[in-house]
Amino acid sequence: MPITTCVFDAYGTLFDVAAAARQAASEPAFEEIADDWSVVAEHWRQKQLSYSWLRAIVDAHTDFWEVTQNGLDWALERTGHNTDPALRQRLLDLYWELQAYPEVPEMLGALKNAGLNTAILSNGSPEMLEGAVKSADIGETLDACLSVQSVGIFKPDARVYDLVSQHFGCAKEEVLFVSSNGWDAAAASGYGFTCAWVNRAGEPMDRLPWTPQHVLTDLSGIPDLVKAS
Ligand code: LAC
Repeated sequence: MPITTCVFDAYGTLFDVAAAARQAASEPAFEEIADDWSVVAEHWRQKQLSYSWLRAIVDAHTDFWEVTQNGLDWALERTGHNTDPALRQRLLDLYWELQAYPEVPEMLGALKNAGLNTAILSNGSPEMLEGAVKSADIGETLDACLSVQSVGIFKPDARVYDLVSQHFGCAKEEVLFVSSNGWDAAAASGYGFTCAWVNRAGEPMDRLPWTPQHVLTDLSGIPDLVKAS
């Protein structure tokens, strides 16, 4: 069945989650993270994700914004940067205006020109996603921003992936799901989507029962991949 619908994870896939710490580190007021901003960013991301999985397992859902703040607080304490409330606030503010990866606008434009449905499917709250889409100026090329908030559980619960068929009225087999998170691409592949894992960092494949059908190093190859489907 040909692909009619391309669905993207948000954080780490369309939007560069390391950009917040990188940007803050370049500002004179936050020199204290100039040397270890990437460690802060890595801990922040890992804790944010771990907390989302744990909350899904024990059915203790909350807004992704709370999980994002909890992850940052852990990361700042772990790296000894937890005594500067201005740094915490700056990092949180920057999370609402993350940069999109450079190839994103052209890639989404090509998909829309080819008549595909395009959407974000993310743990992010509708407000967070709206902020990121607006600041990256990619709203014109997206048909929908689907947030887990409407089902009250985080990825990789199947109810999240169900949102795509519910919104577009399409079969799973018509969906290409794209994520930079190996676990997300694997789980969505197990769910029944065709999946592309965007492995920018050259990470090893996750050892899970499912494997994404495609592995790319960035998003620029997505339109050709769809064409070939
Ligand atoms: C998201 C996270 C998992 O956008 O990257 O859903």
